[in-house]
Amino acid sequence: MSVKIQFQNVTKKYGETTVIPDLSLEVKEGEFFTLLGPSGCGKTTLLRMVAGFNSIEAGTISFNDKVINNLSPGKRNIGMVFQNYAIFPHMNVKQNVAFGLTNRAIPKDEIEKRVEKILDTVKITEYKDRMPESLSGGQQQRVALARAIVIEPDVLLMDEPLSNLDAKLRVDMRNAIKEIQNAIQITTIYVTHDQEEAMAVSDRIAIMNKGVIQHIGSPREIYRRPANLFVATFIGHTNVLEGTLKREGNTAWLSIGSYAEDFEGSLAGGDGEAPVKVSVRPEEFYIAEGKADSGLKGKILNAMFLGLNTHYFIALESGQHVEIVEQSASEKIYKNGEDVFLKIHRDRINIFDAGGERNLTAGGNK
Ligand SMILES: Nc1ncnc2c1ncn2[C@@H]1O[C@H](COP(=O)(O)OP(=O)(O)OP(=O)(O)O)[C@@H](O)[C@H]1O
Ligand SMILES: [Mg+2]
Repeated sequence: MSVKIQFQNVTKKYGETTVIPDLSLEVKEGEFFTLLGPSGCGKTTLLRMVAGFNSIEAGTISFNDKVINNLSPGKRNIGMVFQNYAIFPHMNVKQNVAFGLTNRAIPKDEIEKRVEKILDTVKITEYKDRMPESLSGGQQQRVALARAIVIEPDVLLMDEPLSNLDAKLRVDMRNAIKEIQNAIQITTIYVTHDQEEAMAVSDRIAIMNKGVIQHIGSPREIYRRPANLFVATFIGHTNVLEGTLKREGNTAWLSIGSYAEDFEGSLAGGDGEAPVKVSVRPEEFYIAEGKADSGLKGKILNAMFLGLNTHYFIALESGQHVEIVEQSASEKIYKNGEDVFLKIHRDRINIFDAGGERNLTAGGNK
């Protein structure tokens, strides 16, 4: 059985230090939910609270409608996979996977059946008699995953399970994890600080900073309409420019240096003129073709051909450097030193208040 997990006004303190001040969120049944944030923001702390290895100073954590705050870890029916996959070196693969079942009152042939099935699910059947020392990192990680899910947990917790693997293997394993989670539909909380990994595997992501949730949404929502400037710069790459936003009724003008664009439609906030921070992702810029005379004036510093795309590093008139990306298939390749005019896809970019705390474009296209 899979469960819904509810965090209500959860607080975590270590001694006098509050690490998580007041956190509320709901992870849906069967969902692949990821906590993403910088080192020290409280991801592992929160996961350990769900597992029962950390006390909860205030608020409640519930599985469906049952508060689990005081339930011992052994009674929570949780599967866990952590960074250092801690499989038993003196047991072979099959024994490692069967371990969680042997101390439950389950008949031997039933154990056998379940282990065989899981070994097949995570694709390590051919290694079942091997000792861990003769397995690669990725194979060991699969054993750890098999051991966590063979007990048919209500909840699967994974804390940076791939961080010990090399880049290629990480990608293979994250695909495998996603596939397996999809097949067995266990409510999963996954922790990583790799934003690409988070985007690749998650149904929804919570971006955390200093114990506070900044934004919860699908990878696409978070990338396209980040709730604040922290989220915009944490997920993906972006260029942040200083601008001025002038509003009058349904029309707004955005100026960045001598460049101005008008906007129709709704932007948060009232009439008037205010300084803003403008987040323009590399693909939200484009180089104006031909003899454009409007746009952000800049000079190509470096063109970097990366196969599918070409990245341009450009110095703007203001002195600021920006990175833009164009499909390599587009007609023209610009050269170092060339003067260009940049334009922006104005329905895509995000405009924040001067403090970067509020996205004024949040109601816009997703
Ligand atoms: N047992 C503890 N006692 C005191 N402080 C702790 C303890 N465990 C963690 N902390 C502190 O709590 C904060 C959150 O730590 P946590 O391990 O949850 O971060 P994290 O988001 O998992 O970071 P990372 O990405 O580096 O793993 C940090 O400031 C850390 O120093
Ligand atoms: Mg951690």
